[in-house]
Amino acid sequence: MTDLAADPPRAEELRRQLVDGLVDEGTIVSKGVETALRAVPRHLFAPEAALEEAYDARNAVVTKRDEHGVALSSVSAAHIQAMMLEQSGLAEGMRALEIGSGGYNAALMAEVTGASGHVTSVDIDADVVARARGLLARTGYTAVRVEQADAENGYAPSAPYDAVIVTVGAWDLPPAWTEQLTAGGTLTVPLRLNGLTRSVAFERVDGHLAARSVKVCGFVPMQGAGAHPERLLQLRGTHVALRFDEHWFPDADRLQGVLDGERVEAWTGVRIGSAVPFDTLQLWLATALDGFGLLSVDPEGDPGPVAPLNTKACPAVVDEASLAYLAVRRVSDDPAEFEFGAHAFGPQGRELAHRVADLVRRWDREYRGGPGPRITAFPADAAVPVPPPPGRVLAKRHARIVLTWP
Ligand SMILES: C[S@@+](CC[C@H](N)C(=O)[O-])C[C@H]1O[C@@H](n2cnc3c(N)ncnc32)[C@H](O)[C@@H]1O
Repeated sequence: MTDLAADPPRAEELRRQLVDGLVDEGTIVSKGVETALRAVPRHLFAPEAALEEAYDARNAVVTKRDEHGVALSSVSAAHIQAMMLEQSGLAEGMRALEIGSGGYNAALMAEVTGASGHVTSVDIDADVVARARGLLARTGYTAVRVEQADAENGYAPSAPYDAVIVTVGAWDLPPAWTEQLTAGGTLTVPLRLNGLTRSVAFERVDGHLAARSVKVCGFVPMQGAGAHPERLLQLRGTHVALRFDEHWFPDADRLQGVLDGERVEAWTGVRIGSAVPFDTLQLWLATALDGFGLLSVDPEGDPGPVAPLNTKACPAVVDEASLAYLAVRRVSDDPAEFEFGAHAFGPQGRELAHRVADLVRRWDREYRGGPGPRITAFPADAAVPVPPPPGRVLAKRHARIVLTWP
């Protein structure tokens, strides 16, 4: 437990360092968000964590796990919270809804919206609601309303909202979230797009939502009516896995033994530095490739010839009995410089590897350094503008998400 009485100056010092760092790196850009992060004592909302952990910008403090140890609730990492507050355009006087409670982020929202605004926070889990209420009361944020509710229905009693901020991973956009927004209100949501999670800030325009900001993030998954488990295909026993998040799933029988054959490779000439983000490449492949999935390898297991670019969620594609994934190789004596390519297996492996490599080269020529796709969302029963390939419509239960590469 953090001993506050013994160490408040240290907490203040760590908070100052945290906020200075987020300002310096450009995550915090508005005065309102900066003032809020300087004001709210984050450590009081994560009393189970050491002060250094509570004030580590990249660290989420897990507050509840299921029986398998999987995180169900957390105080999200401060850099993600600051990023999403900025994306949402939250400002003084606004009415706001937070979906997924913890206390800390609701307190930040209360600071930003001020005495003339109002914040409601809902969580599906009674323990989380009780904890958030207790922490908010203890820290003096008594005007925040915390209620137990399934996010599927938003929270009508406090609507309409100028901003809805979803702080739990969502596969879909339930109609209530849009219906409870004011005209011109924003919905900021960690949305799963063909397996990749992006924090998307949507604006309500006419009968649809238009994204104005898209950022990389990760969140615990939605429970309740909006839960949507990924589907898993295991290869090489359980050492290699493919995950599929939309409706398509490969014919598992055709892929059995695919990794026993020869590995073919195709290289692109496209280079990347080791610490340089390339999240638009992942989204580009997830949009452009039919049969897209995410490949992972068990770091404790034997992956055989499978050497993906990362072990947890590597862009991959399946076509009938063949499989390819994104890979990198070192190109020079510089240990921080790599070349993108593809590894592939199966009867169409060579063609599939070249398909991935061609797409990487096209991303490099046309989209690298750009903002990524335009993202719009429509109700499932609306007429949807279908973009030309490589654009894609993701058909969710409630929404149609349209990704267009300009
Ligand atoms: C990452 S935590 C929220 C963090 C919090 N906003 C903070 O202050 O950092 C995600 C929360 O979403 C909640 N949740 C999951 N599914 C939900 C649902 N369908 N409706 C409401 N809350 C849900 C979980 O119980 C969990 O407490």
